[in-house]
Amino acid sequence: MRIEVGNPRTDSSPVKPFPSFFLALWFASALPSPGADLPFQSQNPPAMQPIASRDTPAYRAARKFLRGVNLGDYLEAGPDWAIRVSAEDIRQIKAQGFDHIRVPVGWHRYSSPAPEFQLSREIFGKVDFVVTNALAHGLAVLINIHHFREFDADPAGSADQLVAIWRQVAEHYKDSPETLAFEVLNEPHDKATTAVMNDIYPRVISEIRKSNPSRTLFVEPGNWGNIPELQNLVLPPDDNVIVSVHCYDPFHFTHQGTSWGGPDVKVTGFRFPGPPETPLTIATNVQAAPWVHDRVKQYNTQPAGNNPVSATAFREKLRQARAWSDHYGRPVHIGEFGCYYKVDAESRTRYYEQFRKTAEELGIGWAIWDWSANFRYWDREKQQPLPGMREALFGQPSNP
Ligand code: BGC
Repeated sequence: MRIEVGNPRTDSSPVKPFPSFFLALWFASALPSPGADLPFQSQNPPAMQPIASRDTPAYRAARKFLRGVNLGDYLEAGPDWAIRVSAEDIRQIKAQGFDHIRVPVGWHRYSSPAPEFQLSREIFGKVDFVVTNALAHGLAVLINIHHFREFDADPAGSADQLVAIWRQVAEHYKDSPETLAFEVLNEPHDKATTAVMNDIYPRVISEIRKSNPSRTLFVEPGNWGNIPELQNLVLPPDDNVIVSVHCYDPFHFTHQGTSWGGPDVKVTGFRFPGPPETPLTIATNVQAAPWVHDRVKQYNTQPAGNNPVSATAFREKLRQARAWSDHYGRPVHIGEFGCYYKVDAESRTRYYEQFRKTAEELGIGWAIWDWSANFRYWDREKQQPLPGMREALFGQPSNP
């Protein structure tokens, strides 16, 4: 597939926390926790100061970011794997029932060298196209900085560039409607730990606030926006900040067969939810680590309520996010969840439906990854949603 060529999550690039760290998290999250309904307890002082009010600008804004879609593999992608997006796509996004678009942007690839880090007119033109069309359709828009690998590798050395980019982007959009929001950085990871970001976020936020005193901002915790990292986040007392997290659990289901998911997603054939009617066997030409064999065994044998390929894999994490949010008075948002388009279609739609329903039961806004690329909702050839996707996300038939 053209859009897979050059995807940054290849073997030579960093991947999501996988396998060791991710494995540990996955094991933990796959088991029902007796503390699931307990309120959030800070484990990592000095903890962030809670905000008592639930009528803050952030909470009001969060109501406009409830059902979203990522324009993935577009403005953050290289020219050889980027998809095309037209005004008709944006009209369709609105017509399908989404209320917001998250637009990943590779601003850093359009910036001149230090110390100016001047952004090109070309990238502003591209982002303006999406922002203008989305706002015209009544969609809220979230623009971010995506795949800023140099930053993740060296946050201290790249912080000036991050601040300079946001100074220009914020200045450019300062008169835009309030339904345009900025997300400071996609999936901080590697050296960009939550603790490191706790020092850098206030710097960027105060820079943006010079031109956009009341713009809604989104930030993510480290380790790829991973929910357990929320407990390490310490934000300034700004009351217009929404905290966004990413969740692709169960990863072996959502990323099975992807070229960028790491060496342990080579086993394919997981269906959602487990256990399967016919046990999954690992193909003889796939070299799987011992724990992957163990995982397949659990998938084949564990009952539905406790199966690693089921809502059990994400429900507890989403509850944790809710509990953290309630404790600190910061709304949370799921900026990415989704499943590879080559996965068995019925399993895929069941997964999207259960994830979406779980998030909504917990009152958390979500944005699927993605519109029409590798985790697609939309069939570009047929100009309609993939079968079952509209029902999964909106409870409505695809062709009303
Ligand atoms: C990345 C995409 C990837 C997706 C699913 C996103 O965060 O930007 O490149 O396809 O996650 O792994």
